[in-house]
Amino acid sequence: MQGTESKTFDIAWVREQFPSLKLRVNGQAAAFLDGPAGTQVPMQVMIAVQNYFLSANANTYGAFATSRSNDAMIVSARRAMADFFNCDSSEVVFGQNMTTITFALARAIGRELKAGDEIVVTTLDHDANVAPWRALEEKGVVIRQVDIRESDCTLDMDDFKRKISTKTKLVAVGYASNMVGTINPVAEITKLAHAAGALMFVDAVHYAPHGLIDVKALDCDFLACSPYKFFGPHMGTLYGKREHLEKFQPYKVRPATNTSPECWETGTQVQELIAGIGAAVDYIAELGRRCDPDVKSRREALQAAYRATHQYETGLLSRLIAGLQTIPGMRIFGITDANRFDERCSTLSFRLGDHIPTKIAAFLGERGIFTWDGNFYALNLSERLGVEQRGGVLRVGLLHYNTADEVERLLRSLYEFVTR
Ligand SMILES: Cc1ncc(COP(=O)(O)O)c(C=O)c1O
Repeated sequence: MQGTESKTFDIAWVREQFPSLKLRVNGQAAAFLDGPAGTQVPMQVMIAVQNYFLSANANTYGAFATSRSNDAMIVSARRAMADFFNCDSSEVVFGQNMTTITFALARAIGRELKAGDEIVVTTLDHDANVAPWRALEEKGVVIRQVDIRESDCTLDMDDFKRKISTKTKLVAVGYASNMVGTINPVAEITKLAHAAGALMFVDAVHYAPHGLIDVKALDCDFLACSPYKFFGPHMGTLYGKREHLEKFQPYKVRPATNTSPECWETGTQVQELIAGIGAAVDYIAELGRRCDPDVKSRREALQAAYRATHQYETGLLSRLIAGLQTIPGMRIFGITDANRFDERCSTLSFRLGDHIPTKIAAFLGERGIFTWDGNFYALNLSERLGVEQRGGVLRVGLLHYNTADEVERLLRSLYEFVTR
């Protein structure tokens, strides 16, 4: 474990919080390297969901105790997400998942667009940040797609500058790639978008478990992420600048409120899981307080947590990349230069000779090592890299609850796979 931990990062405490990490498969400890598709959940989140059913299980705005408890819980979860995003509570929207939220937002924004207006998307993005915008082609909206630089799987910023123009009404960019881990220069792209008079939408689903989000510093107009990717339950959340949430009109039923942000939350929410979202943010804050006991606010605690987890995850990533590079036939996609690790997070994809990724995933799965194969819905990227017709890639996701031992086990098993 040497060299992978910050002095204050207590991996033993972290792992204690996640009961599912104790799972065993075929006599071996499970190694959860599948986090990019959904993380494990700390006990605090499970307790919050259970408590909802015990004392707050009612619909909203009733004149009785359980309904009032539910209302208070939602206010508190919205405050937690506001600290998470660094925005006001009134700018936080809850929803089923990022994809559903983005389709709803695109439909609402689309009401204001006309034929010939343009939206810029990218080759690096998950399809949930492409298809909802492409759906507006039905209205004559023109979609422009920014390419990548294949050598390091980063966005081609020259192409970006070419594709954004005064016709651009919205730019949709991911914060981090869920396939190759690239972190995009979102603040810089926001400036380009705003200079052209366009709105900026950020898909922060993949970034959220790895880095602190600060919508004020980014100055983006919208940012979406999914709590189930940052140790919470299966839901989605959206930040929207208040002026935009008030201006754009979501499709909704007539009796539902017209007041923002609630008017964006179609139908009855999965309230028990909203309780879990607040607890997930509080878990990260608790970790931060353990890393730096001097922090004063929840936001500062979140900052401390991400500082520590970034350092820890980078240590694991260095070890993983160094080990993978010694395996014959290895092709890693994306940034591998340790001097550029600030431009990527600890999610990594590779191909191993001509081996079909699903076979590697099954081999590892038998040994209790959970990885994903395929395109992970980053369809544009999978096609662009020429792997779509060949089973995609194998993806390893490292999170702050993973260990150097798990990385070593993965490397040993991959050696075993290629030398069978
Ligand atoms: C980068 C990225 N964006 C969007 C999504 C879609 O999120 P959701 O499942 O909440 O709709 C995912 C899911 O894997 C993702 O990784």
